[in-house]
Amino acid sequence: KKLTMEELTAFCNQYGFIFQGSEIYGGLANTWDYGPLGTRLKNNIKDAWRYYFIQKRDNSYEIDSDILMNPTVWEASGHLSSFTDPLLDCKECKTRHRADNLINDYSLEANADAMTQEEMFRYILENKVPCPKCGKSNFTDIRQFNLMFATQRGVTRNSASMIYLRPENAQGEYVNFLNVLRTMRTKLPFSIGQIGKAFRNEITPGNFTFRTIEFEQMEFQTFCKNGTDEEQYEYFKDYGISFFEFLGLSKEHLRFHNHEKLAHYAKAACDIEYLFPFGWGEINGTHNRTDFDLSRHQKYSGKSMEYFDDQTNERYIPYIVESTYGLDRIVLAVLFEALVEEELDAKETRQVLKINPTLAPVKINVLPLIKKRHSEKAFEIYKDLQKHFMVSYDDAGNIGKRYRRGDVIGTPFAVTVDDNTLLKNTVTLRDRDTMEQITINIHELTDYVENVLEF
Ligand code: GAP
Repeated sequence: KKLTMEELTAFCNQYGFIFQGSEIYGGLANTWDYGPLGTRLKNNIKDAWRYYFIQKRDNSYEIDSDILMNPTVWEASGHLSSFTDPLLDCKECKTRHRADNLINDYSLEANADAMTQEEMFRYILENKVPCPKCGKSNFTDIRQFNLMFATQRGVTRNSASMIYLRPENAQGEYVNFLNVLRTMRTKLPFSIGQIGKAFRNEITPGNFTFRTIEFEQMEFQTFCKNGTDEEQYEYFKDYGISFFEFLGLSKEHLRFHNHEKLAHYAKAACDIEYLFPFGWGEINGTHNRTDFDLSRHQKYSGKSMEYFDDQTNERYIPYIVESTYGLDRIVLAVLFEALVEEELDAKETRQVLKINPTLAPVKINVLPLIKKRHSEKAFEIYKDLQKHFMVSYDDAGNIGKRYRRGDVIGTPFAVTVDDNTLLKNTVTLRDRDTMEQITINIHELTDYVENVLEF
């Protein structure tokens, strides 16, 4: 049985994956804090991305650029003028709406997929689409709303001191194009990736961590020659699917969504969507950004962004194919995919997080069968395993309960220490998914678990 969004939110709170942000103060709308297990899961997904996009690939370099950048970057990128959402306010109940939220019930009739946000709003106004909150149709005019968060630097408060929290990681990678090219002594095609926070003043955030104002992206920019961009674009669409399958998302829950409406920088764009309980939602985007970004940075910075191709003796501005991943949304998808309630027999059910062991927050749960008799040895094994993996130690309650506590947070292995451990150095190793148990020598434990992990 699969869970609803509300059930998953409750699960995350109960087991220490995700909490409401600033909870003791009543929260701050649509901010969320990752707890101990959520943080490990998120870090493991970052490591999987690093493995898949940086380590396993040639000519791939990770950087870590600052969130705050010279404001001219956002002029060059087009975000100051074009990174806006149109919005409508309901005059009756004062609810602020995005077009796609308002038009839901009408989307088939109106063919909303083929419309821009502006067109959707015009449709809403002309057809008197009612406000879903109060049922009336009395809206303000369409207004443009820039999604970037601005802040001030220094003591004087004027427009010259205005700086922005980055709304995407990508620009940090573009402005370091020359630095990476020079210091890594690389050649086209090569890629720059980074993992980091992005901020957007989303008007109607929602659906738990799916749409928030602060989130993490894993972005990957491939610099290539004009003419090879379309091939790279197709390649990264498929690479995205294989990455998601590597994380454990099943093919039936993934689909491509080609964009007809394009962002200001793109020649072609395609999302990968995951089937969440609230419907299909974007978790990745592949964009053919052409030479738009580097040309603009050349124009605004006055620095040449040209690449010298020593094979052909040409100079040109490279094209960029971007593949971007929303980390928080992927955490959510991985949890949805993995969390199931299983009927064991007529009487008993168990909740189990059947997560890819490589992503599991804890790899092994060490359990002394009888606290008084086996604790000392069990603790010794636990300390030893800590050198290799994230492990937990649990000596409270009966063994069945302790197994369940590991199952529900996705711990792939339980190691039980009993009299045989004291006599023969063997332990029982229980598999989370099959619940089968094998006997294994403690000296073989590390290798056994390491072999199951993918990196
Ligand atoms: N550099 C291109 C770019 O930022 P995007 O499609 O606007 O493209 C990339 O965002 C990814 O970031 C999305 O696929 C999504 O997974 C994630 N994302 C975007 N806005 C988000 C939000 N408000 N909350 C959580 N994740 C978000």
